[in-house]
Amino acid sequence: MSNALKEYLTLSQERVEVALDKRLPANTVLPKMLHDAMRYSTLDGGKRMRPMLTYSVGKALGIDPETLDGAACAVEMIHVYSLIHDDLPAMDDDDLRRGKATSHKQYDEATAILAGDGLQTLAFQILAGDKTMQASAETRLNMITALAKASGSQGMVGGQAIDLESVGKKLTLPELENMHIHKTGALIRVAVQLATLSKPDLDPVVASKLDHYAKCIGLSFQVKDDILDEESDTATLGKTQGKDQENDKPTYPALLGLAGAKEKAQNLHEQALESLADFGDEADVLRDLSLYIIQRDH
Ligand code: IPE
Ligand code: IPE
Ligand code: MG
Ligand code: MG
Ligand code: MG
Repeated sequence: MSNALKEYLTLSQERVEVALDKRLPANTVLPKMLHDAMRYSTLDGGKRMRPMLTYSVGKALGIDPETLDGAACAVEMIHVYSLIHDDLPAMDDDDLRRGKATSHKQYDEATAILAGDGLQTLAFQILAGDKTMQASAETRLNMITALAKASGSQGMVGGQAIDLESVGKKLTLPELENMHIHKTGALIRVAVQLATLSKPDLDPVVASKLDHYAKCIGLSFQVKDDILDEESDTATLGKTQGKDQENDKPTYPALLGLAGAKEKAQNLHEQALESLADFGDEADVLRDLSLYIIQRDH
């Protein structure tokens, strides 16, 4: 990881941690266990890749990061809700997430389901009313629509449904790509979109280049997630290694082999860089981020 990226990553992680903490109800507020569970899964963990993307696109476009705190929190809350539900016994049945017990293990299944539900609705409440966003009603509506589409049955939730119905099946490459684009790509793409939407006078050509960048890294992110499930270890990942094989999930390494999957990730990184060809050094963090996504060890 480049030094510039490391510095920026740390700054954004600290920034979103404070912003999330402020927006989550305290665990002294009723119902206490539910709020405790929402905070437990959201705070102090994860790479914060989606908020980072929102802030980094903002940086490339000269947007004040404070006005992006609401969007960064909203997309991370949807992501955390998706992880809590993904780990449930009815889905991937995982005990470990971000180096600690999964929500249903730490609390119970009902609380985990409700903590996910609570995070999901809080995300939209933030986009609708968060004061620091300084966004017009129309911009807020556009953001809510984009996040709802990316999260719903034609976005992340749809991808999760495809994932579950594909267990034990051998998908074709286009089918696998479609699953990954939905279950993971859609939220990464909207993390970028929320930043571009917050600048309503943005040149649509610039917005569409950034969207193309987001599509490439959204897919490379899940390709790398599949690779790590095969080649990393539980301690480094903070989640149980080898679960995809155990659950008989279709993955890129399963279909293309590890070398083929790595080549796919590298190709997507190159395409992501091409989408940024017209940008100057203000987009260097985005370039570094794309490389980090395919080189990360967790
Ligand atoms: C894991 O996401 C689930 C996928 C969509 C691949 P991350 O790898 O971003 O998980 P955290 O947020 O860092 O824990
Ligand atoms: C998860 O994909 C995608 C979402 C949570 C939407 P995975 O099931 O591969 O994620 P991990 O490996 O459990 O983090
Ligand atoms: Mg899953
Ligand atoms: Mg999983
Ligand atoms: Mg995985």
